[in-house]
Amino acid sequence: MRISFGALKIPTQGTIVLFVGKSRKLGKVGQSIDQKTKGALKRSLKVANFESKLGDKISIFAPWGHTNSTFILVGIGEDKNYNELQAQKLGATIIEALQSSNELSAVILSETHNSSSEDNTLLAANVAFGARMRSYAYEKYKTKRGNTTQKTNINKLTFMLDRPNVARNRFNGLSKIADGVDFARDLVSEPSNIKTPKWMAQQCRKLSRLGVKVEVMGEPQMRKLQMNALLGVGQGSVNESQCVIMRWNGNRNSKKTLGLIGKGVTFDTGGISLKPANGMEEMIWDMGGAGAVIGTMCSIAGRNAKANVVGIVGLVENMPDGNAQRPGDIVKSMSGQTIEVLNTDAEGRLVLADLLWYAQKRFKPSAMIDLATLTGAIMVALGREYAGLYTSKEEFGQKIIAAGKSVNEKLWHMPLDPEYDKQINSPRADMKNIGPRWGGSITAAQFLQRFTNSVDWAHLDIAGVAWSDKNKDLMEKGATAFGVRTLDRLIQDHFELR
Ligand code: BES
Ligand code: MN
Ligand code: ZN
Repeated sequence: MRISFGALKIPTQGTIVLFVGKSRKLGKVGQSIDQKTKGALKRSLKVANFESKLGDKISIFAPWGHTNSTFILVGIGEDKNYNELQAQKLGATIIEALQSSNELSAVILSETHNSSSEDNTLLAANVAFGARMRSYAYEKYKTKRGNTTQKTNINKLTFMLDRPNVARNRFNGLSKIADGVDFARDLVSEPSNIKTPKWMAQQCRKLSRLGVKVEVMGEPQMRKLQMNALLGVGQGSVNESQCVIMRWNGNRNSKKTLGLIGKGVTFDTGGISLKPANGMEEMIWDMGGAGAVIGTMCSIAGRNAKANVVGIVGLVENMPDGNAQRPGDIVKSMSGQTIEVLNTDAEGRLVLADLLWYAQKRFKPSAMIDLATLTGAIMVALGREYAGLYTSKEEFGQKIIAAGKSVNEKLWHMPLDPEYDKQINSPRADMKNIGPRWGGSITAAQFLQRFTNSVDWAHLDIAGVAWSDKNKDLMEKGATAFGVRTLDRLIQDHFELR
């Protein structure tokens, strides 16, 4: 889809999108179109009982004076009350409208009845971003056109407004974030027969084009580092485990480094503690944490962020096999702490344990955030709207929650407590990899905390939100890239020099 920005004028044909404010008010160009059509727009709004709520929409076809045009009128809600996020939702609304009427292109008049030209550039850039987000489709493996689920490919959106250059610049910044989100969505959507750990590492290498330093470790190197907790998980797979380190040094004057750590289980069968057949295919997205980290690196490098960030992802496949890890095995993690593996399906924490340790040892980050599709229990607790956030540092956690809120990635603060921590003590080793029946997401977080020392640390359990079964505001159903926009915003707000 091409997105372009041009000067404000009255288009004479095609699909034209107009914004409608409270009490059905139109902008300047909108009003002159209304006059040219002998009041067709206002009349239609009235007959349709249009309330101008955010995202309300009606279409008007071939009105007198504009017989080659279709108008889509979109409500913006209360006067001046729309923010960036709402403007992005308008973009998604427009895409839905165009898709359902099979339109291939549209002109969007970025004006409202009472907005300044500054407001209009923000409106255009964010509507464009939302449109781009919502028009994503994973159709790599569809070989036949006209398939019922196939989307019409909208090929062109043109925004018209007073200061098209300012809007274009704003959108260019946002489109780097979109690049990261789309990259993550592509990775998460990829089927696991293709998406092996090595394939994932190869995808990470693409980031070097943006100036990210990418290093890949295979099993021999990880064995040398004694990352036995991670290696145990991949030991039943014919696909070699990989660890990818991605470094973005955007601020040479600062020693502050943020560490981002992602669970990248390219497929989780459960291992010898095999999962039931029903729904197992969902485990292609068990690398959603790694996807979010990779997508974030893509975004921040793309927009040249003035921050130092290191992304580390552990890429492993959890398979049952003659050589697979057994329940009851005891592994010695890189930290030296021993772990009794009581359930081979609680594998994500084993991968993260070594990554968290490695990140601290090598990079001495001032803060670390891990993202993982870690537990089914977080879905029991929070459903599929909120991700769970755990943190050892309250203020840090609050910053992440606030960043998430501003991009509509919802995070709920979950508790850590020494009483939960006790529950993973093992009689045979330093700890076991599962707790008792209740509070499974919490005991998983407690497990991770044992590998974080005193570094400011947060853990996002994104099992419920990495994938969506239904279309939801900016996102088409499927991979959501949850975390990319939150982390990008967090870095913008708290890790970049201004
Ligand atoms: N990858 C799963 C968690 C998961 C479940 C992610 C559903 C997305 C959707 C994780 O590795 C897992 O299997 N966790 C187990 C832990 C249990 C064995 C303690 C779980 O949640 O059942
Ligand atoms: Mn598992
Ligand atoms: Zn898993």
